[in-house]
Formats: sequence, C-alpha cells, structure tokens
Amino acid sequence: MDPETLAAAGLRYDADGPVATITLDRPGRRNAQTPAMWRALADLGEAIPDEVRVVVVRGEGPSFSAGLDTAVLMGSDPDDPDSFPALLKLGDEQIAEVIEGYQRGFTFLADPRFVSIAAVQGHAIGAGLQLALACDLRVAAEDASFSMKEAALGLVPDLAGTKPLVEAVGAARALELCATTRTVEALEAAAIGLVNLVVPDLDQAVADLTAALLAPPAGAVREIKSLVQGAAERTLDEQRRHERQAQVRRLRELGGPT
Ligand code: CAA
Repeated sequence: MDPETLAAAGLRYDADGPVATITLDRPGRRNAQTPAMWRALADLGEAIPDEVRVVVVRGEGPSFSAGLDTAVLMGSDPDDPDSFPALLKLGDEQIAEVIEGYQRGFTFLADPRFVSIAAVQGHAIGAGLQLALACDLRVAAEDASFSMKEAALGLVPDLAGTKPLVEAVGAARALELCATTRTVEALEAAAIGLVNLVVPDLDQAVADLTAALLAPPAGAVREIKSLVQGAAERTLDEQRRHERQAQVRRLRELGGPT
C-alpha cells in the first residue's frame, strides 16, 4: 500500500528486511482508531511479504491507542458511512459482516509466518488494548496502562480481543477486566500475564526482543508459533503428533536433500 493511502488512514508502514513496523500515527488523537484504519490494517496484513519475520505494532506520541475514535461513535460527521448511526441503518447480517471486515485488521497479526510484537506506551484503551492483544507478544513501557473500555459505552469488545485476553489472564480475570472496565497499570499487567515485559526503554527492549526472535532459523520459529497457537485446542496426543510432524519437517530442512 502506498504511504499516502496509509497516512490518510492514520498509519505508517516501515520495512527493514525481516522486520516490519506498523505505526498508528494519529498522535494528536492519541492514535484513536477508525474503520478506515482497520480496513487499511487488513489490507496491510494481506500484503506483508514472506521475508518478514517480525511485525512490530507501535503508536506515535504519548499513547499506544485511545481506542475507537469517539467521532465514529457519535456520528458527528453525517456523511461518514462508517459512523455507528450509519451502521445501524443496515440489517443485522450486514452489520456482522462489516464487523468481520474490521476484525481482519486485527487477526492478521496471528499469521504464523511472523511473530507480532505490540510496543505499548501510555494508554491502550478499548480497541487499543484489543490491538495489543492481537499481537503475539506485548512489551510495555513503565507508564503503560490498559483498559477494556467497551462496556462503559454499552458495547462488547468485538475486535477479536476476548479470546487472547482469556488466554492471557484466564476467564475470571478477563470477565472482571471487561465488565468493570478498570484500568490495569503496567506492573499489574505483567503480574497477571497481560504483557510479557515491562521495561524502562521501550524502543531498546523491542529492538533486543526482535534480534532474539531473528536469531534462530526462520522455519523453526514459524513451526513453534503454529505449535503454540494450536496447543490449547488439542489433546496431548494430538499435540504430540503435531510436534513430531513439525520436527520431521525441521529435520528434513536442516538435513537438506538426501
Ligand atoms: N477518539 C477521538 N479523539 C480522542 C480519543 C478518542 N478515543 N482519545 C483522545 N482523543 C483526543 C482528545 O479529544 C484530544 O483532542 P484535542 O487536543 O483536540 O482536545 C486529544 O486526543 C488528546 O487527548 P487528551 O487531552 O484527553 O489526552 P490525555 O493524554 O490527557 O488523555 C486519554 C488520554 C486517557 C486516552 C483520554 O483522551 C481518553 O480517555 N480518551 C477516550 C478513551 C476512550 O474512551 N476510548 C474509547 C474506548 S472503547 C472502544 O475502543 C470501543 C470499541 O472497540 C468498539
């Protein structure tokens, strides 16, 4: 996608060999998210080349993301076909289809071809927290805070965030966080498993983590991500079978043609 189209959606994409960085770039709006941004993210996700092994998602300015742009919610622009009031004119199935399109702006981050890292500073609220949850790993600055704010607006988190939240913190804590909308500060986020790391220097920590992820052969990391992603859904026997099959592929690749 060309930089102008991305900029219009509030995004930047920088590629550096095996590392791609997606930046939410609306700092004056605390990187508030819009349907246009979600569609652009989905398109970006489809265009990420095979050589990319790590995707970093970050936010420009003091906050990772303040969640849904309140202008979308309020329908303050009467010509905006993406506003909530405009959405309500559609049938139920159509609304669900529109949301499915939004979700694709998040779910591409689970692609096993690469490991995705959310680099979170300041606020990660609502859709902002869901974007961080869509990433495989979350690294937080000491000032990071997290809130699943949707219920305060009478909504549910619908950007594919509830499953990774439950997987990260367990069902009881996920329910508590979503239903109360309370803010979790960085240290608590690390203690409950919502983030992997809390660090004093976010950029340096993300660079170090990226380098560590790039150190092993690409094929090994890709197989590991697939194995880990599928583990919760499988029985031990099924998981062991997947481990064996993955290891055979690794051995074949490492051994070269016979
Ligand atoms: N949408 C649009 N604009 C936003 C915004 C948002 N979500 N969040 C912040 N901004 C704007 C502010 O209006 C302000 O604009 P002006 O300079 O023109 O006044 C600018 O960004 C800076 O904001 P603050 O001065 O408030 O900055 P702060 O650093 O003091 O506070 C904040 C940051 C805590 C994120 C605060 O702005 C805030 O609470 N924002 C609203 C957060 C929110 O409720 N988001 C919705 C979450 S629910 C969701 O996301 C729904 C869903 O998925 C379906």
